Amino acid sequence: MNTSKQNIPSNSPFGGQGALESAAAGAKILVLNGPNLNLLGVREPGIYGDSSFEAYLPKLRERFPDVTIEYYQSNIEGEMINKMQEVGFSYDGIVLNAGAYTHTSVALHDCIRSLRCPVIEVHISNVHTREEFRHHSMISAACRGVICGFGLDSYRLAISSLVESN
Ligand code: DQA
Repeated sequence: MNTSKQNIPSNSPFGGQGALESAAAGAKILVLNGPNLNLLGVREPGIYGDSSFEAYLPKLRERFPDVTIEYYQSNIEGEMINKMQEVGFSYDGIVLNAGAYTHTSVALHDCIRSLRCPVIEVHISNVHTREEFRHHSMISAACRGVICGFGLDSYRLAISSLVESN
């Protein structure tokens, strides 16, 4: 992928609108959602909002027109690991919302450490304002960074961080 900052228009000190998105032309990113996130829009809307991920995805892709954003969701830990192993040596990054496996899975931690591409941990809710069992993540230490509490915008922020740093 071409991440040259020369793509950023010089007429704005911040690179202009969309400059960050276009700086990553050709990048491939996997958004991977774990258990129960297929129920976004239905599941506890007071916490997770009323939009399904499928409704949000086109908007996310619009924000990064030069980035290929693949989407995969599974309720099964092993399937998530298979998917990460499949793309983790050729893609430019993975945005991972591991759902409840965040708090339990050594297997996801080990998988993330095994990959060549960076993984960003995301959460829709601010897990630190919720039950104590959500305060600890088994995967954070293996990830490049963690973004939580911004609703679905957490995914956009994670992709921006990958695009900027890759
Ligand atoms: C979540 C937070 C987790 O604690 C929870 O188990 C989820 C969703 C979030 O996106 O806020 O399933 O990852």
